[in-house]
Amino acid sequence: MCPKQTAMPTETVNGLHQKQRDDYYATVIDSVGDGVIVIDSSGLITLCNPAAEEISGFSRKQAQGAEFAKLFAMETTLLEIVSKTIRTGITISDHENVVVRSTGRVTPVAVTCYPLVLGSGEHIGAILTIKDITYIRELEAAVRQADRLSTLGTLAAGLAHEVKNPLGGIKGAAQLMEREFEPGSELLDYTRVMIRETDRIDHIIRELLELASPRGLKLAPVNLHKIMGDILLLQKQSVSGREIIFISNFDPSIPEIIADEEMLTRLFLNLIRNAIDAMSDSGRLTVSSRVLSDYYMAKKERHSRMVAIEVTDDGPGIPREDLENIWTPFFSTKSGGTGLGLTICHKIVSEHRGMIKAESDPGHGTKFTVLLPLVQ
Ligand SMILES: Nc1ncnc2c1ncn2[C@@H]1O[C@H](COP(=O)(O)OP(=O)(O)O)[C@@H](O)[C@H]1O
Ligand SMILES: [Mg+2]
Repeated sequence: MCPKQTAMPTETVNGLHQKQRDDYYATVIDSVGDGVIVIDSSGLITLCNPAAEEISGFSRKQAQGAEFAKLFAMETTLLEIVSKTIRTGITISDHENVVVRSTGRVTPVAVTCYPLVLGSGEHIGAILTIKDITYIRELEAAVRQADRLSTLGTLAAGLAHEVKNPLGGIKGAAQLMEREFEPGSELLDYTRVMIRETDRIDHIIRELLELASPRGLKLAPVNLHKIMGDILLLQKQSVSGREIIFISNFDPSIPEIIADEEMLTRLFLNLIRNAIDAMSDSGRLTVSSRVLSDYYMAKKERHSRMVAIEVTDDGPGIPREDLENIWTPFFSTKSGGTGLGLTICHKIVSEHRGMIKAESDPGHGTKFTVLLPLVQ
């Protein structure tokens, strides 16, 4: 990584210097953060750097000397690009259509394939660079999601304003009626149902308005572990009688972050309540935190360090077809659910310039990951 310190060896035929020079070139290629794979004109891999090992899931030992087309047999687009460059000697880039399937995951990648040309002009193979763009894809998805939610949120808030006043009238009238009926009368029961249900609508409306409110953030230094600790303490009491184990795995080195404490409390309370709702009589809820030193989120030209907080449960999980709907207002699979909890979580995280994602293994559990910048 520090070419400044390794002076480029001078030209010499001395064996030692030749080796130093080879080492120097090898270090340069190994230090490139993108995957680099060199393929000779017969299609054999002659070189592969650590970043390529990581993206492809093949070790350098497996890759070097192997046939590129065999190793990447599933990646037809990639094979076409490489064989075309070897055949024609032109540079080909593709930032949209290539994925690498390895070790059970699919990694979206941006690739460029350059012809490998000798000083004499002879083409002797191709150099393939591979960049992992998972992170870019995640950001793109987050932007699409935020767009969709902001339109829905504005619509819903408009509706909520319209409903709020007549609802107040209905509840007031029902409360007056309640006083008129004798205890034990059937009409009194009906009236109480009316009051209870208007309260429920009122709760939904308050959540909706909160979703669309331009309240802004009240920023101050916040101790995340204290927030989580307080929530867990209260929730432990609320599940007494059920066999739910709470596990906290906090990274003690996380400093106070600059955030809105009330909003973060609501965010984590929603996630933890959902996890508890998901587990029936017994289960295990794990809350963990860590600082991500290698995860940066663009903030104009500055970069900010992030903390990751994970809420994991071993409940039934979320079916694949529901996973993209859980952030949508009113999507709920619970009989008494409003379906607004996760929409509010999404909004709180976006306002903090963070990211939230859900991963679920149906039948085994769900993990919500929240990434928040250390400073705003
Ligand atoms: N930890 C979880 N395990 C399984 N399903 C979950 C979990 N968290 C959220 N969900 C699903 O997402 C839906 C939406 O959650 P949310 O927006 O909080 O609304 P609500 O809790 O009112 O249903 C839930 O109804 C449930 O189907
Ligand atoms: Mg909820």
